Amino acid sequence: MPIFYGKASLMDYLKSIKTIHSTLGFVPTMGALHQGHLALMQKSLAENTNTVVSIFVNPTQFNNPEDLAKYPRTLEEDVKKLTDLDPNIILYAPSVADIYDGQPVSQSFDFDGLENPMEGKFRPGHFNGVGTVVKRLFEIVEPTHAYFGEKDFQQLQIVKKMVAKNNLKVVIISCPIYREANNLAMSSRNERLSAQERDKAAVIYQILTSVKAKFPTNSAAKISEWVQKFLKKNPQFTLEYFTIADEATLTSCNRKNKNKKYRAFIAVLVNNIRLIDTISLN
Ligand code: PAJ
Repeated sequence: MPIFYGKASLMDYLKSIKTIHSTLGFVPTMGALHQGHLALMQKSLAENTNTVVSIFVNPTQFNNPEDLAKYPRTLEEDVKKLTDLDPNIILYAPSVADIYDGQPVSQSFDFDGLENPMEGKFRPGHFNGVGTVVKRLFEIVEPTHAYFGEKDFQQLQIVKKMVAKNNLKVVIISCPIYREANNLAMSSRNERLSAQERDKAAVIYQILTSVKAKFPTNSAAKISEWVQKFLKKNPQFTLEYFTIADEATLTSCNRKNKNKKYRAFIAVLVNNIRLIDTISLN
């Protein structure tokens, strides 16, 4: 599998394989690869001439230094998973210095308000960090198509906004949430849960499916109240936020409008590990 640690050699290589008819799929990740990541790559491999995967734990999107320090770094195992999936995958695994000249700092973005609620509220600066690194990676890789998971739905909308505002030529493809056998959304952070916590975390998706069932006949406020009460019965889980929001603008739903698409979003803390999930409601 071709592996590049520096942008100059990667860019030379990509130039050498590009033709007028070829497409280049790109799957940016922070590594500690799991089936959810691999599903994005499978889609890219099926839809493009070539596929680049990046593995880069981006310091500027972590508002919590402990979260950054504890983020799993498993490059050797990741390389094995990628080779087993398809040895034609092109891996870019840069250092911080290869992405950021000097101190890693974020650019400031205006995402038309998409950055303010939910993850933006609880992780200040997070989306400026994501915007900065994704823009930089797009400039280096120059993909025709880039693949993002609906698990991080707010991130997906923000990346789409950044592409539109900067007139970038890449097509953003969204991919469904890949779940564990108990329906817990797969995440690199799940590795930090104990077996018991992982089992119990199934409650997150159970809540979301109940919310979906309640949505046609209950107000968003009533449903939010129910979620808060329900989670109080599970003291191991601390609710950070639960929101029903308009999928396009991410503004919370006060009164339902039948022409709009809504989603429920949840973030909970288990033993100081943050888990997020989302479901489409209509
Ligand atoms: P990371 O958390 O590694 O996720 C990489 C991609 O995999 C993201 O698009 C994410 O939404 C997707 N993904 C993660 N778990 C998934 C699951 N269970 N089902 C489907 N897709 C899933 O998101 C990031 O990295 C970073 O913010 C990044 C975009 C790479 C910028 O640093």
